[in-house]
Amino acid sequence: MCGIIGYIGEESAATILLNGLKRLEYRGYDSAGMCTIDQSKIQIKKGVGKVDEIHKKLNLTNLSGNIGIAHTRWATHGKVTIANAHPHTSCKEDIAIVHNGTIENYQELKEILIKDGHNFKSETDSEVIAHLIEKFYLEYKDEEKAVLTVANMLKGAFAFAAIFQKNPNILIGVRKDSPLVIGIGKDGYFLASDILAFIDHTDRAIFLDNQEIAIVSRKGVKILTFNGLEVNKSITQVAWEVSDVSKKEFKHFTLKEIKEQVYTVRAALNQDLNKIDEFCNKIKNAKRIYVVACGTSYHAGLMAKHLFNKLAKIYIEPIIASEFLHYGDLTDGGSVIIAISQSGETADVLNVVREARKQGLKVFAIVNSVSSSLVRESDLSLFINCGPEIGVAATKSFTSQLVIIYLLALKLAGLSIEDSGLLKLSKYVREVLKLEDEIQKISLKYYNNGDFYYVGRGPHFPIALEGALKLKELAYIHAEGMPAGELKHGTLALINDGTPVVVLNPYDETYFETLGNAAEMKARGAKIIGVSDRMNEIYDDFIHLPTVNKLLYPIIEVIPLQLLAYYITIARKQDPDYPRNLAKSVTVK
Ligand code: M6R
Repeated sequence: MCGIIGYIGEESAATILLNGLKRLEYRGYDSAGMCTIDQSKIQIKKGVGKVDEIHKKLNLTNLSGNIGIAHTRWATHGKVTIANAHPHTSCKEDIAIVHNGTIENYQELKEILIKDGHNFKSETDSEVIAHLIEKFYLEYKDEEKAVLTVANMLKGAFAFAAIFQKNPNILIGVRKDSPLVIGIGKDGYFLASDILAFIDHTDRAIFLDNQEIAIVSRKGVKILTFNGLEVNKSITQVAWEVSDVSKKEFKHFTLKEIKEQVYTVRAALNQDLNKIDEFCNKIKNAKRIYVVACGTSYHAGLMAKHLFNKLAKIYIEPIIASEFLHYGDLTDGGSVIIAISQSGETADVLNVVREARKQGLKVFAIVNSVSSSLVRESDLSLFINCGPEIGVAATKSFTSQLVIIYLLALKLAGLSIEDSGLLKLSKYVREVLKLEDEIQKISLKYYNNGDFYYVGRGPHFPIALEGALKLKELAYIHAEGMPAGELKHGTLALINDGTPVVVLNPYDETYFETLGNAAEMKARGAKIIGVSDRMNEIYDDFIHLPTVNKLLYPIIEVIPLQLLAYYITIARKQDPDYPRNLAKSVTVK
C-alpha cells in the first residue's frame, strides 16, 4: 500500500508534496515523510501519525528546494516508527527513495548489502532499494543505469521514486505491478501513485505500464522499459471531476459519501447500453463465470450470484480474490473473469487478472476508478461513476456496484429497466436517509456492546455481511453477518442477554422464516434490531424502510446499516474516515 509523490520544477517542492500527501492518505496513514534537495543537500523530515499531525509538529513546508519526494505509509515490513517511515536513504544519505509495494527478495539482497558494508537504519524492505542504487551508482556513476540495474534485481510488486543529491536535476520513477503516473504541469513534473496527488496542478498525465522507468528532468520525461529500450507514450487528459475530494459541509467523508448515494445510484445508471450488451454477450457464452473481488466488492459479487441465477438462470461463482488462485482452475479454457473493484488497484484482484490473462482468459471489470490498473488490464470495463470515494469504508461504491449488477442481470434475463423500478431508486434512497436521526438514537443504545450479529436470507445475506463489515472496520466491534437460518447451527451459542442482532427482514418470501429465527434469538436474550418494511412486536428497535420493488430492496437495505456503523463509531469517539490498521486501496497481496 502507501502513497508516493515526487516533484521537479520551478515551484517550492515541499508545498506541492504536502498537498499531494494529504490526497494520498487514503493509501495509508500511519506515518509520513518527505525530502527535498536544496543547496546540494538532501534534507528529510518524517514522523508518525497522519500528515496534518506531522506537519504541525515538523513544519514540512519549510524544507526548501524545487525537487523532492514524499510518502505516506501503511506498514508492511517493520513497525510504525520514525525510522521505518519513508524516505529512506543510502549510507551516505545522498540518495533518497520512497516506495510503495513489497520487495519479496529483500532479505537476500539485504544480506549481500550488509556483507558489502552497507548500514541499515530501518526494518523495512524498502531500504534495500536506496542501498542497491548507491552500490550501482558508485560503480556506473550514472543514475539511469544504476536504477535500471536495481529495478531488474527486485522481486515483488513495487513502485518507487529516487532522487540524487549529486544531481538535483532528475527524479526517477520505477513501476512494476504497483501504480505510478506522471503529471505534466506548466512549471514542473510530478510522479505519483495516483493522479489525485497532483490533479490541482495539471490534468495531463502519462500512465506508466508495468516494468517501465521514467527519468524526469525539468526539461521533459524519458521512459524506458526494464530492458533499457526507450518508449513513446501518449499523454492522457484526465477528467477534472476526480479532484472533487472536499468534505463539503460534512464532518466526515464517510457521512458525505453515505448521503451522496441519492445521486450516485442515479449516476451508475448512466451506462452506454451497447457496452452493457457487449458485457452480457461475452459472459453469456462463457463455460464458467468467476467473480473475483475483495471486501465490500466481494459482497457485491455475492449479490450478482444471487441475481444472475434467480433472474437469468446464469450461474456464477464469486471467489475472494486472494483465494482464487488456490481454488479456481483457469487451465480448462472457456472461463471468464468478472473483476469487481472500487479502486481498480487492489493487488489481490490484479494478481488474479494478470494470471488469468496469461492463460488466455477474458477479463471484464466493474470498477470506479477510470484510470486504474484494472481498467487498463481488462478486456472491457463498466464504470460505476460514483466519483472519488475517500472514506476507507466502501459505501456509495457498493450501492453503485449493485446498480450495475442489476442492470446486467436485467439485460441477461431480457427484462426491462423501466419495469424494474431502478429509475426510482434515488427517491427511495432519499427516503431512507431521512431515518438518520432514528438510527443515531439506536446507535446510542448499543454502542458499548462488544459483539453484533447481522442476519438475512437470500439476497439479504450479502447485505448482512456488508453491515457487519462496516461495523467491524469503522467501530472496531466484533460483528458477524450470516444467513438467518444458519445461526442455530452453532452461532446461537454466542447469543446472550442483550446481544444485539440486526435482523434484515423485508416482507417478502423470506419474512416468516427470518422472523422465526429472530424469535429463537430473542428467546435467548438477544436484542432484536429489525430492519424491515413491516413492523413486528418482536423487534426491540425498528428501522422502518419504505416498501419498494422487492428486487430493489437490498440496495436500500444497506444504507441504514452504513448509518448505524457510522453513528456507533461516532459514539465510540473513533474517526470513521481513517480506521486503524486499514487503508483505502489495498495494493499489497
Ligand atoms: O477497491 P476495492 O473495491 O477492490 O477494495 C476492496 C476492499 O479492500 C474494500 O471493499 C474494503 O473491504 C473496504 N474497506 C470495505 O469497506
